[in-house]
Amino acid sequence: MNAFDLIPKLVRSSLEADKKDIEATALMIARKIKKDYPAAAEEITKALAYSRLDSPVTRSIDLQPLPVDKETRYSLVKIEEPIEMPDPILENFIRQQLEDFIKERQILEDFLREDIVPPNSILLDGPPGVGKTYIAYWLAYRLNTPIITLDLASSISSYLGRTGQNIRNIFDYARSQRAILFLDELDAIAKRRDDASDLGELKRLVNVLLKELEDCPSSCVIIGATNHPELLDKAIWRRFDRTLTISMPDERERRSLLIRHLGKFGDELRRDTLHYLVKHTKDINAADVCKLSEHMKRRAFLSPNEPPQIIALSEVYKIKPLATKEDKTNICRLLKKEFPSLSVRDISMITQIPSTTVSRYLSANRKGDEEHAE
Ligand SMILES: Nc1ncnc2c1ncn2[C@@H]1O[C@H](COP(=O)(O)OP(=O)(O)O)[C@@H](O)[C@H]1O
Ligand SMILES: [Mg+2]
Repeated sequence: MNAFDLIPKLVRSSLEADKKDIEATALMIARKIKKDYPAAAEEITKALAYSRLDSPVTRSIDLQPLPVDKETRYSLVKIEEPIEMPDPILENFIRQQLEDFIKERQILEDFLREDIVPPNSILLDGPPGVGKTYIAYWLAYRLNTPIITLDLASSISSYLGRTGQNIRNIFDYARSQRAILFLDELDAIAKRRDDASDLGELKRLVNVLLKELEDCPSSCVIIGATNHPELLDKAIWRRFDRTLTISMPDERERRSLLIRHLGKFGDELRRDTLHYLVKHTKDINAADVCKLSEHMKRRAFLSPNEPPQIIALSEVYKIKPLATKEDKTNICRLLKKEFPSLSVRDISMITQIPSTTVSRYLSANRKGDEEHAE
């Protein structure tokens, strides 16, 4: 039996949270890989040693125990180790900025030697579902550092009175680690300002945050994300080295997202259908384009006899409902025009509009065309 054969067993025991079994299997793996992968074997033995002492296992990779709220004892943040992720699909300018940031972080020591201040923060803004959270985790992977996430939306509401101290503890913690501190939903602080009773407390909070951001050494990377940049205190904006506005995906990006996520099903689609999908997902964010692809794949798997084109087109109109009669008429006509081989029944399946109505829309179109031609 080699180490790879033991991985399924390790996965099962982890999912069952069977600590004894996990330890035994991990130890076997460590022994088997010791010769070829000494560093990984060492990491495993170290983690096991910490676990036996009932100390947090993250300490074995030099991570301190997470800070907790003094009264509730709830963790204020979560910490995750980096995992490999595909590159986010973004416009070239943003992608370049992120690559520059990564490069600059990788030569941190050189910068410091030359007395050049290295960048240590990025603020990501943009509508929901464009990949802000994804980018933060991807940066952790590219920089090979754990990521500490503070979700302000949840931590503020529960313990406003103690949030200032909590924020200080979190920054202290982040400063003591080589990790990315990710402040998700930063606008949560600003949003609460409408609530007059909390006003004084929130002002103090913003000040705490500003001071902590200011005091962050260059070894510490801070990423902020917000869906509502307009709600954010201008002073907070200024504390970040780079502000990157992530936009809704354009045609090129939607095409890449679809191709990546559709996988094999994408190969079955005709080029004109894929082109139509790209064009007609204009106001759909990246997260929903990914979701849409999953819907198509599932349906294709469940009904293998349904033509891929019908599956693809009808899933678009499920995610993007046709609201007005005008929408409906236009889409029926457009589908017929782009794909003349579609029958009235096909169009009815795609749009969920009864066949008789589709028929009426289409014949009105023909009449219009004829009148036009005369
Ligand atoms: N630009 C992108 N490139 C690749 N995948 C993306 C992108 N944007 C969103 N996604 C997908 O959608 C999911 C949700 O996006 P998320 O990062 O949570 O958006 P946001 O934080 O901006 O609201 C991601 O986990 C990822 O699978
Ligand atoms: Mg997010």
